[in-house]
Amino acid sequence: MAAAGKGVPLCDIQISCKDLRPSIDAAVARVLDSGQVILGPEVVAFEQEVAESCGVGFGVGCGSGSDALSLALHGLGIGQGDEVILPPYTFFATVGAVIRCGATPVFADIEAEGYGIDPACVADKITPRTRAIMAVHLFGQTADMEPLWRIAEKHDLLVIEDAAQSMGARYQDKPVGSLGALACLSFYPSKNLGGFGDSGMVVTNDSETTRTMQILRGHGMDPRYYHKMVGWNARIDALQAAMLRVKLPYLNSWIEQRRQAASRYMSLIQRQGLDGHLETPSELPNRMHTYNQFVVSVAHGKRDQLLQSLRAQSIGCEIYYPLPLHLQECLADMGHKAGDFPVSEAAAKSTLALPIFPGITMEQQEIVVGACAAFLRAPVRMAA
Ligand SMILES: Cc1ncc(COP(=O)(O)O)c(C=O)c1O
Repeated sequence: MAAAGKGVPLCDIQISCKDLRPSIDAAVARVLDSGQVILGPEVVAFEQEVAESCGVGFGVGCGSGSDALSLALHGLGIGQGDEVILPPYTFFATVGAVIRCGATPVFADIEAEGYGIDPACVADKITPRTRAIMAVHLFGQTADMEPLWRIAEKHDLLVIEDAAQSMGARYQDKPVGSLGALACLSFYPSKNLGGFGDSGMVVTNDSETTRTMQILRGHGMDPRYYHKMVGWNARIDALQAAMLRVKLPYLNSWIEQRRQAASRYMSLIQRQGLDGHLETPSELPNRMHTYNQFVVSVAHGKRDQLLQSLRAQSIGCEIYYPLPLHLQECLADMGHKAGDFPVSEAAAKSTLALPIFPGITMEQQEIVVGACAAFLRAPVRMAA
């Protein structure tokens, strides 16, 4: 085992870009020299390249993954009187976008394995007002799409992918981005394709909604200073697009590095005999996991103490997410209570994300697992 006492970051976003620095500098210089710093040719090229990598025809670049969710919902005309089904175990952005477009969020619990929305729970939530299902691809792996497609087809619903955490993942060998009517990507720095600030994109095969979203992201203007609809400023900077164009060709090799790191974690955890203490993430049938996060479930109610112990040794770890959405203060008027979504609530109590990023070393992973083992196998101290 590696020497103790060395910290490990949860995520190191510099390491994978080190060798790309000259190309990134050149991309920045190209944009600055062009004088076109918002939208423009770099953005158009980036939109085409991302759409192609997702196996679809169109991309609409925007300011963030949150903007992408809002553009998707507004672009599809979802609003007041409509219901959107989504899981309560996801980042707040998913529900925030639904509420801000005027629609009503309706929660459906998740599956214990994989943390995706549970199709059986979705089926129970459908009403005549349901318009869409938000399939959140959490932690780097897709939701179980086949049953969701069947439900959507039966009830004439739209499936929207919240793919913020899972660009590059696959389901039945189809890429994320091509699994619903629209898919929302985030290029937040720690994502699979991380930028140098905020940006995002909606990808789709729907040309009409693409046009609507392009208009919405510029305050609904078409032509200039004539407003067809009430949009907002959701534009993407040309600098982000140009820098991300340098990184995009490396996405698959970085995902491969994440997968190798995940598999090393599995063997280290097994070798340390931690099987009964830490449940490792599973790659579910028909899916290719990208391990944007390596999330373990900590047994015996020890998650919070393990987190404290790791942090005390400067080992980065995080709880995604400590409180499910239905129990958040600002959503209290939805009238939910503890116990309504037991699988989400159990996940919120037991999950812990361990350090993972392209370039993480075996030594760093040994430090993480060694520290987990030292804590989890320590004899319980009785109070004096
Ligand atoms: C599941 C999910 N959806 C949406 C978002 C929002 O993306 P952004 O931070 O780019 O606005 C995030 C960001 O972490 C996310 O994890």
